[in-house]
Amino acid sequence: MAWPLDYGPVPFSWRECKQSRHTMKAAVVVGTRPEIIKTLSVVKELDRTDSVDTLLIHTGQHYDYSMSRLFFDELTLREPDYFLEAQPREGAAQVSSIMEAVASVLMEAEPDVVLVEGDTASAMAAALSASQMQIPVGHIEAGCRSYDRGMVEETNRRVIDAVSDILFAPTETAYYNLIREGHNPSRVFLVGSTVADALQEAVAHPSDKSLEDDFVLATIHRPSNTDDKVSLSEILHGLAALNIKCVFPIHPRTRKMVDLFGLESLLETPQIEVIEPLGYVEFVNLLRNSKGVITDSGGVQEEAFLLGKPTITLRSSTEWPETIWAGKNRLTDVRRDLIEEAVTAAVADESGLPLKTLGSPNEVGRAIVRVVLDLAERQHLRPPGFDMIRSGYPFLRLCSKDLMQPLIRFDQNSMITIGDDFVSAICEDYWTLEKVDRQTFHERDRKRLMQEPK
Ligand code: UD1
Ligand code: UDP
Repeated sequence: MAWPLDYGPVPFSWRECKQSRHTMKAAVVVGTRPEIIKTLSVVKELDRTDSVDTLLIHTGQHYDYSMSRLFFDELTLREPDYFLEAQPREGAAQVSSIMEAVASVLMEAEPDVVLVEGDTASAMAAALSASQMQIPVGHIEAGCRSYDRGMVEETNRRVIDAVSDILFAPTETAYYNLIREGHNPSRVFLVGSTVADALQEAVAHPSDKSLEDDFVLATIHRPSNTDDKVSLSEILHGLAALNIKCVFPIHPRTRKMVDLFGLESLLETPQIEVIEPLGYVEFVNLLRNSKGVITDSGGVQEEAFLLGKPTITLRSSTEWPETIWAGKNRLTDVRRDLIEEAVTAAVADESGLPLKTLGSPNEVGRAIVRVVLDLAERQHLRPPGFDMIRSGYPFLRLCSKDLMQPLIRFDQNSMITIGDDFVSAICEDYWTLEKVDRQTFHERDRKRLMQEPK
């Protein structure tokens, strides 16, 4: 079959019709505790950028003071421009009500790009609404995979990545996941995790929480752990049996299920200190001073890893495999004896993880904003016209280059596979992939992303 090897210039730019407007409008949508924390540096950076009008939209999915407003106050995040009232629903009803509410704001505000973070119902609903309205979507924390479809978050992540036009990968693993899945490499940016920015912000704030000598921290909120009476009571029994004190800031879902199942008595033990959900500064302070953490949270696994704290993850999978490979995060079944055993082993292990270098303040947020501005300037917020990678054209073009042969090949489903020792990087010629070794790629990408705006 004859294929055109030179497919000519980029055929169409979606934004051409909007070029009369000078200032770009970026909307950031948040709805839950981790989204507020993890978009903090991006929102602040956007607010600092003169050439961007920033809209902060809060869906209202989390609404208690300690799950939402508290973070705005303590981290000096400015008020959302829109606060929607999406609570309290579950499943499809939750997603569809957030979709509708976000769509009406997008209709009114007409942003040029919508940024969402992570894997929640709010993030997926906002991404779907924007995508339906042909507004480019940027996904912060793209490419994370636990491969556990039993968790709704895994579906949410895949759906968001599928409809996103710009994918911000937090780790190398996430970057490769996206490339392996066939995402257009020119839309995937390895920027790092915004958790590093948030941690720096937290560490810079003083905390007045007095500290225990020896304790572990616990956070539990996954439906598989909380919405099943046997699992929840195994976890609470496990915490009560520890030979070290356990500080337990309780998530509202968990509190609700403890009450519903009548398990309050399991919390009435001196071994467990149940407290309200904490502010971020206090939580990070406790984590830093703890002997380790028992959790099912995605964000807490990341933070514990960066702060060098042993982690017992009460799940059968994780979207942060690096924490497992580093040897200090243990996936543990929800059984009281196994929890006790894992905590004892983790606390006794003195070797500790090294504290990770967090980079310069706001580094990841700045990189994300740079990419958005750069793409906007080149009118490439959306892949032009149609997704050429999926259409097969760039494959053929790449295959026509001998250079790429050892790097990229097709499997039976026409997916690209990239050799382990090399990564592909986009060079100035928009569609051409270039062979570079890993170190050069990282150094160059870092320089490119961090260079000062022209
Ligand atoms: C949600 C996300 C989950 C994320 C977590 C972060 C979805 C599907 N799940 O789970 O991925 O890890 O946030 O914490 O998006 N509630 C309150 N007050 C609040 C918030 C919730 O009382 O401020 C109670 C309500 O009864 C609500 C329940 O908790 O029905 C669950 O809240 P929801 O936002 O649906 O899910 P989370 O478990 O918080
Ligand atoms: N967190 C917090 N106070 C708490 C518990 C957690 O500020 O009492 C922070 C934690 O440091 C992390 C984020 O909340 O940044 C994680 O949120 P959560 O566990 O609710 O969601 P997940 O990360 O699992 O989606």
